[in-house]
Amino acid sequence: MRQPIIAGNWKMHLGRVDEALAFVRRIRHPLNEIEGIERVLCPPFSVLAAVAEVLLPTNISLGAQTMHWEERGAHTGEISPAMLEGLCKYVILGHSERRATESMAESDTAINRKVHSAMSHGLNPIICVGENLQQNEAGETHAFVVKQVRAALEGLTAEQAKKCVIAYEPIWAIGTGKAATPADVNRTIGLTVRGAIVELLGEEVAQAVRVQYGGSVNVENIATFMAMPEVDGALVGGASLKPDFVELVRRAKNF
Ligand code: PGA
Repeated sequence: MRQPIIAGNWKMHLGRVDEALAFVRRIRHPLNEIEGIERVLCPPFSVLAAVAEVLLPTNISLGAQTMHWEERGAHTGEISPAMLEGLCKYVILGHSERRATESMAESDTAINRKVHSAMSHGLNPIICVGENLQQNEAGETHAFVVKQVRAALEGLTAEQAKKCVIAYEPIWAIGTGKAATPADVNRTIGLTVRGAIVELLGEEVAQAVRVQYGGSVNVENIATFMAMPEVDGALVGGASLKPDFVELVRRAKNF
């Protein structure tokens, strides 16, 4: 049995200590009471330590939004795995907003390095994969996502791979209000994401890895995704910034 996992990716929002703490203090108790589902908050680096303290008396986990693969060095503005170790349980790696060529241009190779580095620092990666609209319309989703999954997990042992979470996030569905259909998501996660893991590491690992859906998930549609047998949770952007994120997690629960 895979335990469902819902993660809130705040992106570049709620990054001032006062606003982050006000929000977390408001949601932490009701969110903490929801059992049977792992709940993760991924705030900006500027508030990670402050949020960590407020979450201490809860079972809510903390995640970072990215990291460098090196432990230390001349990398201006970067955050290293050693800096996150002990503070975060999770780290989002390879989000499409970081893979995008116009901003950070993260490559599959860089993401694989980060995955290995996270593993050696006790951090569980949430690895994002997903096709853009053009690829989707050209029928290239399967080949593209298989390539991303294979590249990200390359060189991991079965035990390491089982600790990874994969977030399938079609780029055209992120922040657009236009989510993919639950049936399409179920098929892509089952055939493409798990299919790639079967080829790489075998059936047992593929059945153990948790795979989330991400892209315009909200309080109204979360249950339709969670009802799908291949979907183990969601990576939630915009809808994780509002107090009814608690209600979203509640509705994700009973599947
Ligand atoms: P969204 O973002 O929920 O705002 O579409 C999801 C994500 O980018 O992880």
